[in-house]
Amino acid sequence: MALSTVLEILDFKGLLLFVVAFLVVADFLKHRKPPNYPPSPFSLPLLGNIFHIDSKQPHIYLTKLGHVYNNIFSLRLGRDKVVFITGYKMVKEALVTQAENFVDRPYSPLQKRVGGSNVGLFFSNGEMWKKHRRFTLSTLRNFGLGKKTMEVAILEECRFLLDEMDGQKGAAFNPTILLNNAVSNIICQMVFGQRFDYTDHQFKIMLKYISKSIQLEGSIWGQLYEAFPAIMNQLPGPHNKIFSTYKLLCDFITEVVEKHKAELNPAEPRDYIDSFLVETMEKAHEPTDGFDEQNLIMCVLDLFLAGTETTSTTLCWGLIYLITNQDVQEKVQEEIDRVIGQTRDPNLADRANMPYTEAVIHEIQRLGDIVPLNVLRVADKDTTLGKCFIPKGTAVLPILHSVLFDENEWETPNKFNPGHFLDKDGNFVRREAFMPFSAGKRVCLGEQLARMELFLFSVSLFRKFRFSAVEGEQFNLDGVIGVTRTPHPFKIHATAR
Ligand code: HEM
Repeated sequence: MALSTVLEILDFKGLLLFVVAFLVVADFLKHRKPPNYPPSPFSLPLLGNIFHIDSKQPHIYLTKLGHVYNNIFSLRLGRDKVVFITGYKMVKEALVTQAENFVDRPYSPLQKRVGGSNVGLFFSNGEMWKKHRRFTLSTLRNFGLGKKTMEVAILEECRFLLDEMDGQKGAAFNPTILLNNAVSNIICQMVFGQRFDYTDHQFKIMLKYISKSIQLEGSIWGQLYEAFPAIMNQLPGPHNKIFSTYKLLCDFITEVVEKHKAELNPAEPRDYIDSFLVETMEKAHEPTDGFDEQNLIMCVLDLFLAGTETTSTTLCWGLIYLITNQDVQEKVQEEIDRVIGQTRDPNLADRANMPYTEAVIHEIQRLGDIVPLNVLRVADKDTTLGKCFIPKGTAVLPILHSVLFDENEWETPNKFNPGHFLDKDGNFVRREAFMPFSAGKRVCLGEQLARMELFLFSVSLFRKFRFSAVEGEQFNLDGVIGVTRTPHPFKIHATAR
């Protein structure tokens, strides 16, 4: 019997039933798991597990599942299966021991709509990623990364920040935007060749867009877009704000790039944008190398985004943890007064003589848990991890929260305890499970810069001020989860010491 005849006989309900049954069977066949594939909890046909995940605290939910499934399990998020890896040992095995097998990022529909496939620093792969990671690191070094010039630039920004906080005259204020602006100015100087005044209206709006896009991208709306792009493209909803926000950020960067092109002197590149333009003009590159203007905008966007939100959020958590642990704040201030004093500038060499402050900054990063879920990777070939088989092309997420709070690695995982990084004589000790920047070949490109900033900003702030809570107000320590984990809006007092 022809298909059209069958359809004619079926009434509407029958047709619907047939279509649903067909989709469920097709879905089952498509998502059949190979032997030894990582175990998973029950998942709904078509939808998978996307609505099972606690969207407010996904990192905690996923870490708990890791305990149930021996640190490796899979979930279906819409179209895709994702393998989750938890706990220090298994995450290290994936990111460090088997670094080559998990170096790439999977295809991201969201990223494709923002800027195209294989662009920028975060989402590019293969030769193109290697070339741009190398080019970016060497260019940032040319503009002072790891050198005295960078130290001087950060200290100058610290002075602007301290003046601004001094201007609050001890009244309660929310330090988030100020810290965001100060931290962003460091990457702006290297990339755009300029800093922005804290009163610059356009720049303030850009910083707001950065925070908004990072928060939305990591929210359930971002995940729904990644899981069902074709459907979400047709629907209204907050996910559309992700794209309009990115468009505004790209327009801002395009304007800056145009200005750079007009003023460019190839003999004297002033910053990352100039250096990229010179590289594009003067060296022979394959079109697939990505030395073109579209990719310049995406690389700058990645540096601008990654270089702003993460470090300033860490400083925010630092203020909160040291206000709620006044004894720790006093010990840090005592060490600053003893080693640096109040007359000369701090410098990076002081780190070696300030084990307690170093331990406190590390503990802020651990408990702050700024990028709790990490960023997706993909299995570049058929791979065995633990006792499980992961087929080539499977998306993999090594959960950093599960490492920074691993009960087998940390004496008091849920408590703020600088002792995690001190030996019995008070010397600073490195801990292998300290992985806020992730690990392996795709470890955070800005780690060195972030560590310089965290030390110099923290020491400058706590040398000048005693920070305290607003009377009668309590901090909400849960955090808001996007791509980063940020504090709920809060206010503090900064009293000159
Ligand atoms: C406390 C501050 C920071 C934290 C906690 C942090 C954390 C991370 C994490 C977890 C990743 C993902 C790594 C992976 O996939 O395994 C990452 C990637 C990255 N970070 Fe950071 N980051 C920080 C600051 C910065 C800064 C200041 C910059 C700017 C230079 C930066 C630029 C990048 C870039 C470009 C990548 C992508 C690297 C790649 O895919 O090759 N980050 N970061």
